[in-house]
Amino acid sequence: MTTEKNPQNIDEFLDQIGERTLLRFSTAGSVDDGKSTLIGRLLYDSKNVFEDTLASVQNVKSTSVAKGEIDFSLFTDGLKAEREQKITIDVAYRYFSTARRNFILADTPGHVQYTRNMATGASTADAAILLIDAKLGVTEQTRRHAFILSLLGIKHFIVTINKMDLVDYSQKRFDEIYNEFTGFSSRLQVPDIHFIPVSALNGDNVVNHSDAMPWYNGSTVLAHLENLYIKGDRNLIDFRFPIQYVNRPSHDFRGYAGQIVSGVVKVGDEIIALPSLKPNKVKRIQTFDGDLEKAFAPQSVTLILENEIDVSRGDVLVHPNNVPKAATDVEAMLVWMAEESMDLSKTYYMKQLMGSGKCQISKIRYEIDINTYSKKDCSTLQINGIGRVVLTPHHKVFVDSYKKNRKTGAFIIIDQLTNSTVAAGMVLDRTTVKQLEDDKLNDVSGNLFKSLSDITYKERCLRNKHKAKTYWMTGLSGSGKSTLSKEVEKRIFAEGMQVYRLDGDNVRLGLNSNLDFTAQSRKENIRRVAEVAKLMNDAGLVVITSFISPFEDDRKMAKEIIGEEGFFEVFVNTSLETCEQRDTKGLYKKARAKEIPNFTGISSPYEAPVDADLHISTDELSVDDAVSQIVEHILKSC
Ligand code: ADX
Repeated sequence: MTTEKNPQNIDEFLDQIGERTLLRFSTAGSVDDGKSTLIGRLLYDSKNVFEDTLASVQNVKSTSVAKGEIDFSLFTDGLKAEREQKITIDVAYRYFSTARRNFILADTPGHVQYTRNMATGASTADAAILLIDAKLGVTEQTRRHAFILSLLGIKHFIVTINKMDLVDYSQKRFDEIYNEFTGFSSRLQVPDIHFIPVSALNGDNVVNHSDAMPWYNGSTVLAHLENLYIKGDRNLIDFRFPIQYVNRPSHDFRGYAGQIVSGVVKVGDEIIALPSLKPNKVKRIQTFDGDLEKAFAPQSVTLILENEIDVSRGDVLVHPNNVPKAATDVEAMLVWMAEESMDLSKTYYMKQLMGSGKCQISKIRYEIDINTYSKKDCSTLQINGIGRVVLTPHHKVFVDSYKKNRKTGAFIIIDQLTNSTVAAGMVLDRTTVKQLEDDKLNDVSGNLFKSLSDITYKERCLRNKHKAKTYWMTGLSGSGKSTLSKEVEKRIFAEGMQVYRLDGDNVRLGLNSNLDFTAQSRKENIRRVAEVAKLMNDAGLVVITSFISPFEDDRKMAKEIIGEEGFFEVFVNTSLETCEQRDTKGLYKKARAKEIPNFTGISSPYEAPVDADLHISTDELSVDDAVSQIVEHILKSC
């Protein structure tokens, strides 16, 4: 037994073990596979149960074991109380040690074995114990868990075939299960799978070898856990350092503190900061115990850089010759974990180590049939469903592939309304042609030089006798944007002003005919229109735009391009019901019939402005009144 005091939390435990090797593992199994008993047995036989716990368990009358014997599952039932207090507990971590190694076990309590708990526990694990009931054999749950564990990048499976006592310790039964499991697990790309027949109840092959199964010569569960080689699993290649906070105790000192999530960094290393791409050099590596020449994952350090650059919390430091991909579309596998199913028309929040933000799930490529591991078509994912999707973040994000980097290739999806985690995802290793093209386009900006005209904006305004601004109408399709903008244009023109209207359908028939209605294309649509409006304003024209422009971020971008001074947001607020009733173009009907994908309001979201400069409620105003309001605004501000 360890002589140290029982650690109360993970930090205490890590402090106690110092440099001793550590194995993090998790367990997966169905409710009655005997998980609690196995863990209890592991702790008890390895002398990791303390006297007081033992006494309290011995005093409990248990119905599941013979009189005078210990119910091992009770060692872990302390979790029950924890769970009752904190209803949301997903994973409980238990820490224990043997002479050879220290362990952190991610235990997932609860009778309802949602994959969510299992996935959370396994996401930081080096190895996983997969429990199979010898009587029941491989179940759908086994296949699902095995698949998710492999997705999560677990390289070491310990398939523990439990309750061997109930099948007379039969080698034949063990072989059957072994054959069935290896029959499908060969498709999972898990490099190390080990099978152990046990009876957790009787202690066979958990910590001590069993006399009941002389046909099994392999190691016990504990011995296997103690000897598992995991050092080679660490990613020491790709240096990734997300800055957790900027440490600025005095004027001339600025340190960037955080945990190295992967890779190695040395004093003198050239580095760059993401997303700014600004270069720098590592001057010092500070830790609580003094300076280091070199640091590696998972150390927590403070980096001091040669040059004072503007780096802030959330930025990521990397080596310039090893930069993560900047993605506008992310190919990913998702494990859906929420009761409500995936919704393509919703804006979600994507959270990951190298940057977070809003996103759409713009496409579901397929779902995995968990019984056959084959792909099947689907239009959404339900709870526990696993599938391949395309995510479209509203801003470019930096990602690694999960295969390369378990830390920076993983993310979670959060429902913005309820703030709950609805899915866990893993970035797949594939680039799209579009992405490459985008990257290429972005490269040329350093070679361009602005050529200023000799006629200024002011001179144009003086000649026109008015200023030029952009009135940005946003609203659902059929909300009345085009109708209003046409009337406004006429009235403004009649006032003798220079005015021009940019309309969604018109622009999409010409300039933007190569764009569709994915979130990314809409962003590009708005970007181009904003650039055109800016040019027109510069030429002295008042511009009235009518674009759905459903995303808040995109409208913000338009405002940035055009300039805050010259941008007025006009929210044409007409309810979806009214727009759908009018259905002037017949598009809502088609969208309902799934003939048009990504249709705003139906299968793609509309984020209504919260602080528009003008709010036109068409349910309350006549066209004439609405037009007058906008015209009045224009006459006043131009
Ligand atoms: S935006 O979202 O990118 O701003 P935009 O205003 O240019 O959209 O174009 C919207 C017009 O395109 C709609 O009025 C409608 O006539 C047509 N349209 C065709 N498909 C769609 C779709 N999937 N979603 C919205 N509008 C569509």
